[in-house]
Amino acid sequence: MPGSSSFLIVANRLPVDRVGEDMWRRSPGGLVTAIAPVLQRREGAWIGWHGAPDEQLDPFDHDGMHLIPVPLSEREVELYYEGFSNATLWPLYHDVVATPVYSRVLWDAYRLVNQRFAEAAAEVAAPDAVVWVQDYQLQLVPAMLRKLRPDLRIGFFLHIPFPPGELFQQLPWRRELLEGLLGADLVGFQRPGGASNFIRLCRKTLGLQYQKHEIYVEDRVVRAEAFPISVDFSELDSLVREPHIIARAAEIRQELGDPEQVLLGVDRLDYTKGIGQRLKAFGELLAEGSIKPGEAVFVQIATPSRERVEEYMRLRDSIELQVGRINGEQGDLGQQPVQYMHQSYGRDELAALYLAADVMVVTPLRDGMNLVAKEYVSCRHDLRGALVLSEFAGAADEMKQAFMVNPYDIDGLKRTMLSAMRATPHDLSRRMRSLRRRVSTYDVDHWAKTFLAALEA
Ligand code: ADP
Ligand code: F6P
Repeated sequence: MPGSSSFLIVANRLPVDRVGEDMWRRSPGGLVTAIAPVLQRREGAWIGWHGAPDEQLDPFDHDGMHLIPVPLSEREVELYYEGFSNATLWPLYHDVVATPVYSRVLWDAYRLVNQRFAEAAAEVAAPDAVVWVQDYQLQLVPAMLRKLRPDLRIGFFLHIPFPPGELFQQLPWRRELLEGLLGADLVGFQRPGGASNFIRLCRKTLGLQYQKHEIYVEDRVVRAEAFPISVDFSELDSLVREPHIIARAAEIRQELGDPEQVLLGVDRLDYTKGIGQRLKAFGELLAEGSIKPGEAVFVQIATPSRERVEEYMRLRDSIELQVGRINGEQGDLGQQPVQYMHQSYGRDELAALYLAADVMVVTPLRDGMNLVAKEYVSCRHDLRGALVLSEFAGAADEMKQAFMVNPYDIDGLKRTMLSAMRATPHDLSRRMRSLRRRVSTYDVDHWAKTFLAALEA
């Protein structure tokens, strides 16, 4: 018997973090902010894992959202989440910047867990409900769900890049993944290139016909298109105007020793983010004297992430070694050129950091979008601040006025970081005004509305 939810989000994680025994807090981030009002309006529900292994929780309500936890055992966390999602798909979809692990045991767990999510959705969805499946952890769910509930309208959005055929074809389960996604009526990507990679692969691997954005699958038409995700511009824009944030930004600069230039990196500690490349460039600028001692401080905030996955452990060791070297060789008593924090921060502190930073350094080797770049711009109503942005971030399509870099080119990165530090106020405000116009028009609300309008059209 069908359920009663007319709108469903299905994502690997629920949009809440646990803060006590039975206490939850809404997770920060644009996706939740954009979707929560839709859930509230449409008697919707959110299906996802609550973050702890081996624990079965009943559905509960939080902040106007109905939440349905999907349990994962310790072993499934290891094989489905850390394994197939983050040791196979994550590196494969990010240009193979780390070597993907291909293992049948991981694949079996991925399939099993996807089936569990699909069954949970099939059970609670009302007749003809709209179901929006999120991200690479759940690419088989659309087809599994369609089989159980052909009456549903199913959308899928991939938050990470979709790779070109030459890389995707490595995957032993490439057919199954494409067929999984084709269970949706609309498959959304961050960039037009992702959508065309997918469409071409459907033609080449599955022999399907297509025309522009439409793929013909038996008696159905599946649309594949780009919907670049964004941030809640107005929320950040008002937050940084609050006196406590302005005061905290000034205090941060003071705590850093009032350098002329504060450079900032904010990322999950992930090997796709190019943290090592930006530190290398900064270290060399100090060593060769292009940046004078005490002139600039580089603050690198690195959120702990996927800490049991081997590549992430290796990355942490290598970044921490690099920070130690730069500070050891270029620092002085009471003066450390790199301030590295392996911690998560609240919204207010992040906003104050964005406001305190003269140069935001965003140098991923490959990134679906990169929301940090858009958050920084949203926070700079003063039209000061420079954004250094990798060509390989999805955000590069929309943020052409940033100081663009190829993060693999260390000399180029050094030159661009210096240009950003030495830019005139006129140049900075011209660039920032145009970046802000773009992000404020195409915010996360616009993203959710255009996706859902296309899905329901
Ligand atoms: P990804 O989705 O790969 O992590 P994005 O840049 O698109 O990369 O999004 C990262 C999100 O996580 C942003 O909203 C950013 O503000 C947040 N974030 C990053 N680092 C931290 C941190 N140390 N503390 C709190 N939030 C963080
Ligand atoms: O954007 C990619 C992504 O994996 C999201 O799906 C997720 O919300 C975020 O990065 C953090 O990753 P994780 O859930 O593995 O901590």
